Amino acid sequence: GFVAGVAAAGRRAPTAADAPTATVDVLFGTQTGNAEFLAGEVVAGARAQGLGATATALDAVTPERLAAMSHVLVLASTYGEGEMPDSAGLFWEALQADTAPRLDGLRYAVLGLGDRGYDDFCQAAKLIDTRLEQLGATRLYDRVDCDVDFEEPAAAWTAAVLDRLTAETGGTTATATPSPAPAPAPRTRSPWNKRTPYPSRLLVNRLLSSPDSAKEIRHYEFDLGDSGITYEAGDALAVVPLNDDTLVGTLLEHLGAGGDEEAAQLLRAEREIRTPSKELIADLVERAPSSELAAVVAHGDRSDLESWLWGRDVLDLLRDAGPAAPDLAELLPLLRPLQARQYSISSSPLAHPDRVHLTVASVRYGTGQRTYAGVTSSYLADRVGEEACVGVYLQPNASFGVPADDDTPMIMIGPGTGIAPFRGFLHERAARGASGRNWLFFGDRHRATDFVYEDELAGLRESGVLTRLDLAFSRDQAEKVYVQTRMREQARELYAWLEDGAHVYVCGDASRMAKDVEAALLGVIAGQRGRGDADAAEYLADLRRAKRYVRDVY
Ligand code: 2AM
Repeated sequence: GFVAGVAAAGRRAPTAADAPTATVDVLFGTQTGNAEFLAGEVVAGARAQGLGATATALDAVTPERLAAMSHVLVLASTYGEGEMPDSAGLFWEALQADTAPRLDGLRYAVLGLGDRGYDDFCQAAKLIDTRLEQLGATRLYDRVDCDVDFEEPAAAWTAAVLDRLTAETGGTTATATPSPAPAPAPRTRSPWNKRTPYPSRLLVNRLLSSPDSAKEIRHYEFDLGDSGITYEAGDALAVVPLNDDTLVGTLLEHLGAGGDEEAAQLLRAEREIRTPSKELIADLVERAPSSELAAVVAHGDRSDLESWLWGRDVLDLLRDAGPAAPDLAELLPLLRPLQARQYSISSSPLAHPDRVHLTVASVRYGTGQRTYAGVTSSYLADRVGEEACVGVYLQPNASFGVPADDDTPMIMIGPGTGIAPFRGFLHERAARGASGRNWLFFGDRHRATDFVYEDELAGLRESGVLTRLDLAFSRDQAEKVYVQTRMREQARELYAWLEDGAHVYVCGDASRMAKDVEAALLGVIAGQRGRGDADAAEYLADLRRAKRYVRDVY
């Protein structure tokens, strides 16, 4: 519907006699693939309107190349705490530099993708938008920042921007120019999406970690049946959860609306009722200005608020606010829409064409009288039930997959559930009979209780698919040992693999692990090359540009 909506503006079909008038460069900065997917849609829409268009990752564009472009559409996602996505970091660095050229001739528009749940909403898009203006470029159309439900605002922005472009460039008489280096067409996705997820039967729900572990890591298998979904190792599966009925009931009772079936259904399937929204917090502060929450908001910083909120959910906040709390009708608009959660797929379609495997840690904690559980992980672990169906859809991740060349070595760093995509990569390489060497860094707290897929990895070692396995169990000894500890110990060998053309993959925690692993990688490179930190940074930047250093972090 997206492209059709954009293209159905009733323009006459371009003919060969029409002269090409404008080329649009669609530049994307993507983390999970959404911005890249949308860029493909924008290109299709532009071509349908007779404009020449190509999609390019921001990191493949230097400021000098940018200065030579005439019309640019930037689609940028933001991840973590307002950070540039991986495919835009180098671009941003160069654009910020004092040496960046003037962009006086450039006409541009920016679309931001983000999540209003975070403080720095669409920060990457805002920064790029502002900097382009500073450098003298002219906006074609105001930036639009999309929240997690990005489809409609993105389609509206695209239609408006393309109309503006067409009007400005006389595009109705333009012909689609074959682009010099056409971007590969985005993979056709299955028809299933957030609004109409595929009801997939949950075939397997198995505990991977030991019952004695402090963690609960589970293995799930979903039936793809007649969905038509075809996935690739490295893609993600989005799971549409339902809230816990018991929690919904307790919440409604607290609101004096017990037995309101319509409200129960809404809270169960359509609203986030665990994590308080920023809107709810602001509302509660206003209603109860002398509450503890109001004091933290007034006197603390973001991290004070975060730690105060830790272990408290919507119900706790309503209880804390007492009689000042909103009633059901006032509360509903303050709750965010229930989101699907994405999990890295841990299987390969070559080994399991009809199933998708996931490797998921159950989020559970308790404080005092209440126990809390992650919405989706507890839904899968506890509430789906034998052979029942779960709403899912595919979230392709084109930039995270095994190398096209079967001889290319792979270095995979994935502690905890970060192992998920790498299990898929190893299955993929085994099924292909790929000869490239594979090195996995894995770890967790304790070997005895947290070594998931141990037998399988042993089998892959024996069959020669897994060339090296370096393990880091952080709490089996007095001092912490992490995957980056092992990387440093293996510096010489690691660098040799890089020099042999290895691809480096990181999956797992973004807030600390991925940063520390990157620092270790830089340290290894600097140590082995002996040419200083700037040289190491440039070496890593080259790997990034060549798509040989890619991350799936969250
Ligand atoms: P810890 O909990 O003992 O600190 C998976 O969660 C594994 O990642 C655990 O062994 C955890 O160790 C470890 N981990 C925690 N912080 C990390 C970091 N900054 N870098 C790498 N691994 C980390």
